Amino acid sequence: MKILITGGSGLLGQYLNKALSENHSILTLFHNHIGNCKDYSSRQIDITNSNQLTETFQSYKPELVIHAAAVSTPALMKKLTNKYVYDINVNATQKIAGLCDKYKSRMFYLSTDLVYAGYRGSMLKEDAKLIPISLYAETKLMGEVKIQQTTDNYVILRTALLYGFGLNHSRCHFHFMYNELNRGSQVKLFTDQFRTPLSLKEAARMINSLVGLDVKKEIINIGGKERVSRFELGERLCENAKLDKSLLIPIMMKDKPEVPAVEDVSMNTDKLKSFGINQLSIEESILDIIRGNYV
Ligand SMILES: NC(=O)c1ccc[n+]([C@@H]2O[C@H](COP(=O)([O-])OP(=O)(O)OC[C@H]3O[C@@H](n4cnc5c(N)ncnc54)[C@H](OP(=O)(O)O)[C@@H]3O)[C@@H](O)[C@H]2O)c1
Repeated sequence: MKILITGGSGLLGQYLNKALSENHSILTLFHNHIGNCKDYSSRQIDITNSNQLTETFQSYKPELVIHAAAVSTPALMKKLTNKYVYDINVNATQKIAGLCDKYKSRMFYLSTDLVYAGYRGSMLKEDAKLIPISLYAETKLMGEVKIQQTTDNYVILRTALLYGFGLNHSRCHFHFMYNELNRGSQVKLFTDQFRTPLSLKEAARMINSLVGLDVKKEIINIGGKERVSRFELGERLCENAKLDKSLLIPIMMKDKPEVPAVEDVSMNTDKLKSFGINQLSIEESILDIIRGNYV
């Protein structure tokens, strides 16, 4: 298959480049950082530029598009205007959906568990109540809606918190936590915030499996099989990487009022499993990460 990947230089994108290039022909897109895109057929692009997007579709004619580009980190969000975030996460997503429709490309969209109402129970199914409470989550949900209004040939992946080691320039909280613990520094973690986290390598493997299946017009939760708090994830890291657990400092969401308080967006993944996708445990994933078998 000819696969176009947006956000190929991101945390997940670089894992997608590795996984999808094994069996497919990929064109992977980056914006400010090249990351491992330099090892593949790649192109620098600003997805808010409609002409560049159109030209890319015209010349490459992808059979499948994995749209992973987004403004997703709180640090970057703070530096940008709401309008620019909306342009990237909503308007560019709508444009890509339109081009997918025109060029008969199937569209995979990386959405987020944060679209769910985080206070309405646990192990949420795809039809659970949606109440995004941050600009990020709101724009990701608007991206979902724009896609559904524009094309029938989509798969929306509501993706759990991703963890692992970021390749090249990219980093996630787990990587930061590992580095801090490794140098003997304390790390504060929420005991009252729950997720079903998924390793980056596992996410890329699952997406690679799903693209090979005849699945479309679906919303699928993609996450790990275990519900843990942020603090428990830190404990699992310490246990498996032989790091000092006493460096983990339990805090509660009320201690950090500036962070959107999303209590529990752990997801039910029965639908994912119904497509024959199996899941590793957190322990298996962490051991894989620590052993360096993460790429
Ligand atoms: N990380 C998580 O825990 C998580 C959880 C759930 C869902 N997701 C979703 O999964 C996707 C990937 O997340 P991630 O963590 O890999 O994100 P990330 O590391 O922040 O990467 C974002 C990507 O988007 C690209 N990008 C941003 N603005 C662009 C623009 N104007 N034009 C072209 N490309 C642009 C970036 O390119 P440059 O770096 O080259 O500028 C980068 O490749 C996102 O859609 C996110 O919403 C992530």
